[in-house]
Amino acid sequence: MLTGKTVLLGVTGSISAYKIPNLASALVKLNANVEVIMTKNAAEFITPVTFETLTKNRCLTETFDRADVSEVKHIALAERADVILIAPASANIIAKMAHGIADDMLSTTLLAARCPVLVSPAMNVNMFKHPSVQDNLKILEKRGVKVIPPDSGYLACGATGEGKLPPEQTLLDYILREIAKQKDMAGKKVLVTAGPTRESLDPVRFITNHSTGKMGYAVAKQAMLRGADVTLISGPVSIAPPPFVKVVNIQSARELFEAVSGCFEETDCVVMTAAVADYTPEKTSTEKIKKSADGSDLTLSLKRTEDILQWLGRHKRENQLVCGFSMETENVLENSRAKLEKKNADLIAANSIKDEGSGFGTDTNHLVLITKENVTDLPLLSKEDAADRLWDALIK
Ligand code: CTP
Repeated sequence: MLTGKTVLLGVTGSISAYKIPNLASALVKLNANVEVIMTKNAAEFITPVTFETLTKNRCLTETFDRADVSEVKHIALAERADVILIAPASANIIAKMAHGIADDMLSTTLLAARCPVLVSPAMNVNMFKHPSVQDNLKILEKRGVKVIPPDSGYLACGATGEGKLPPEQTLLDYILREIAKQKDMAGKKVLVTAGPTRESLDPVRFITNHSTGKMGYAVAKQAMLRGADVTLISGPVSIAPPPFVKVVNIQSARELFEAVSGCFEETDCVVMTAAVADYTPEKTSTEKIKKSADGSDLTLSLKRTEDILQWLGRHKRENQLVCGFSMETENVLENSRAKLEKKNADLIAANSIKDEGSGFGTDTNHLVLITKENVTDLPLLSKEDAADRLWDALIK
């Protein structure tokens, strides 16, 4: 994922520096070239050897490093980096960055850097809240530096409050958002629906389907990585939402319709991956369920839920794109083409529930992308890669 990218990690003096080797290791596993600069104080908490072993690069701590005379190290590193993350960022480095002080390897390199810079403050709660730290962070933000808000909780100094370094995964998410993909969807507002819907029969039982939400979550994540502003409207699922995505939780088809139609106006593109329960019980049926407490048989009367994709197709403006999914058991192409037409969609991503590696709960999918002009039969791909190919087709 990060082949050809260089991530420069700046590590300063805080006990939470112990988390950064895990981050470096995760980045190396994603094929990034990871360079690390530690301040002298950071080297009191963990050793440069830890980073050198994980990254296979020399970990720098001194301004005047004499190991490599072929380049001016701080300038070369600043130029090589695609992104710089300062984590943990002490009050001291934040102040130096804000005021242009360059008195060691890390602060000197930062002055020469032109790539995006992320700062993850970690310190005692009172230090973090001190007006000088807050003012310095505001100065940095004004210059385009992204400040990762610290977590709240029990701090190593014994205090409780804001100042904890976020988990390694959160730091990785910030780096990935910055450099994992080209920002070819920047400025686009997209809406993705995912997961199943539930139609309540009574307070205990409901009608639903086997959707896990994996495909829709992948569609939302790839759009976010490509720079889009993403809203994910999700039915009940048990997977974690992608970072940096606005999530709206819904249960029923009616709630889904209200959520989608409520923000359709300001959306450039909607992708409906939600497996909408096609039927909901009539009121008479829910009353019958109450009366059947004696154990007698029951015949339910179900009505169709509103076809949301069709509503979107009918109400879309020029330049607004609407994409649906179609999960078929047979006649995949024929049925999906009929759905493209009936729902006035711009694209239908069809998949066969019978295909090996496709369908509910798998990590892969075999999609056929159908537009009025083209049919593109994609190979079996990870849901992330399939989502990327779907966006390629939609935004081109
Ligand atoms: N869909 C929708 N509203 C519904 C049912 C489906 O918006 N009430 C959307 C789904 O999110 C999907 C597309 O329509 O993007 C096709 O869904 P699918 O279940 O394959 O088809 P249906 O339209 O429900 O038709 P059928 O179940 O008869 O195949």
